[in-house]
Amino acid sequence: MEIREQLYEGKAKKVFATDDPSLVLVDYKDDATAGNGAKKGTIRDKGVVNNRVTNHLMRMLMEKGIPTHLVEEIDDRRTLVKKVQIVPLEVIVRNVAAGSLAKRLGLPEGTKLDSTVLEYCYKDDALGDPMVNEYHIAAIHAATPEELRTIADYSFRINRYLSEYLAEVGIQLIDFKLEFGRLPDGTIVLADEISPDTCRFWDVKTGAHLDKDLFRRDLGGEEAAYQEVMSRLLGDQ
Ligand code: TMP
Repeated sequence: MEIREQLYEGKAKKVFATDDPSLVLVDYKDDATAGNGAKKGTIRDKGVVNNRVTNHLMRMLMEKGIPTHLVEEIDDRRTLVKKVQIVPLEVIVRNVAAGSLAKRLGLPEGTKLDSTVLEYCYKDDALGDPMVNEYHIAAIHAATPEELRTIADYSFRINRYLSEYLAEVGIQLIDFKLEFGRLPDGTIVLADEISPDTCRFWDVKTGAHLDKDLFRRDLGGEEAAYQEVMSRLLGDQ
C-alpha cells in the first residue's frame, strides 16, 4: 500500500489517499479543540489512544454484526479505512443526562435517563452543528428515511454492545457521538471514531471523568485519563 496526497485535515485527524481508490489512510493527531474550535490545545499521545481504542471497539462491534469502515491498523496513529461518503449527521446517543442535554432540560448531570435518547445534529461548522429531527433530515436530504432507520437501529445496538463491554472494565458509558458513511454501493457503515474525544466515560466506582470533558472544562488530568481508558481496554497489547 502506497500513501498518496493529503485529502483533508480536520481538527483531530488527517486523511490521505492511497494507491487503492477505495481506501484512505486516517492519521490521528494530538490536537484537541472544544467549543467548535474556540479552545485549542494538545493532549499528549491522544492520537495513539484514539486510534487504538477506536479500532479495538470497532473490531468488537464488527464481531457483533455492525458493519464499519475499518480495514487495518497500520501503526499506533494510522489506520486504513474504506473510503465512504460521510452522512452529514452527528448521531448522539445518551444514557445519562450530561453536557448539552443536562443544560437544555435542566437535569442535574448524572441523572439516569429512563429510556435511551437519540439526537441528530447537522454537520456544518459554520452553523455550529445545529440539532435536527427526522423531518429536517428528510427535507434537506441529509439521509433517506431508510438510511436513517438503519442508522438509528445500528446506534441503539452499538449503545448496548458498548455499554456492556465498557462495564466489564469499570467504565459507565454516559453518552457518545457516532458518524456513519455510505460505501459506493450505498451500504451504511459506522465511520469516524469511538474514543474519549467522542464519548463520555465515567469511572463506575468513583464517577471520575475519563474523557475529553477534562479538557473542555479545564479540569486537568486528561493525558492520564486517556491512557487509563486505553490500558483498561487493551491491557498490555
Ligand atoms: P454534548 O452533551 O456536548 O451534546 O455531547 C454529547 C456527546 O457527544 C459527548 O459524549 C461528546 C460527543 N460530541 C462529539 O463527539 N462531538 C461534538 O461535536 C459534540 C457536540 C458532542
